[in-house]
Amino acid sequence: MKDYVVGLIPGDGIGPELIDAAVAVLNAAAAGRYTLDFRWEDGGAGTYRRTGRNLSAEALTRIQSVYHATLKGPAGLPEVRSPGGTEAGVLGGVLRRGLDAYANIRPVRHPGVDIDYVLVRENTEGLYASRDAGVGNDWAHTDQLLVTRQGTERIVRKAFEQARARGGAPADGVRRVTCVDKSNVLRSYALFRRIFTEIASEYPDIEADYLYADAAAYQLIACPARFDVLVTENFIGDILSDVGAATVGGLGLCPAANIGDAAAYFEPAHGSAPALAGTDSANPTAQILAAAMLLEFLGEHAGAQAIRTAVDTVVLSTSPETGSALSPTGSLRQITAQLCEHISDHYTPTAL
Ligand code: IPM
Ligand code: MN
Repeated sequence: MKDYVVGLIPGDGIGPELIDAAVAVLNAAAAGRYTLDFRWEDGGAGTYRRTGRNLSAEALTRIQSVYHATLKGPAGLPEVRSPGGTEAGVLGGVLRRGLDAYANIRPVRHPGVDIDYVLVRENTEGLYASRDAGVGNDWAHTDQLLVTRQGTERIVRKAFEQARARGGAPADGVRRVTCVDKSNVLRSYALFRRIFTEIASEYPDIEADYLYADAAAYQLIACPARFDVLVTENFIGDILSDVGAATVGGLGLCPAANIGDAAAYFEPAHGSAPALAGTDSANPTAQILAAAMLLEFLGEHAGAQAIRTAVDTVVLSTSPETGSALSPTGSLRQITAQLCEHISDHYTPTAL
């Protein structure tokens, strides 16, 4: 039987209870087919408070070279700040750049509302490039927006590969990649767009499409069914993925994969919601869908699909009362138990 070594970083706030939920669901999907050898790692604002670092170098090395993949909970607490004034506990900087996990893949999907696209966010440069290194004084600070040829080529290719693997936009079935930038204003974005056009010519089977970021924000709300895959710079991608989340029932439903050529980790797109910590009321769906993306990455497609089907049925199915329940009802533990039950009932280990 195959044995996968999976890192777990619970993070802060609701993170630990979300990771417990995801582990239960992963075990239900693995039952009898392969074993998941979970390895817990400390990371986040709590770790920073205790040790002065939000992730140890040893943990980063294990994530990079020992684990097949890592599942991370939300990390960061608003009051835990680094000397520059930014949040010290968020792990994005150390993990995304430390692992060179350059592709942030954010599916935005809800079967009940005809929305199904993937936002591909560049994860290692853009406006986040000078994270914690911007310059300034008491009057002004500046941060650099970095767009490189190599960084743009690889993220654009990733987006076109995603489009090849999918069925097209819900509105018209056309496979398209939409480049989102502000090339009408900033030269860095003009370079991003130019490189997008060059790479697009390698994929004649996929439509190349362009939007400025403000228009994209508008269209993600006004006509989301036109989108198939979007590719964009780090900061724009951060904002647009929250816009997209609002159209499918909220951030509690939206997962993210951070993928590099050598390592990958998976997380919910939302934050650590410290006010909800320990209340058994957080929505575990995004974390659980992130776990499904992790299985997909490991090549366990049937298990990933079993989790998504369970989510569709248990969490996203239309409620008879309202006609359109976008969010689940029930406590975190109840939802998790229902998902595990659905997986055990419908995904029997016949493949053995
Ligand atoms: C995300 C988050 C992070 C980001 C924060 C926590 C630094 O909002 O993953 O979208 O801005 O990238
Ligand atoms: Mn975000």
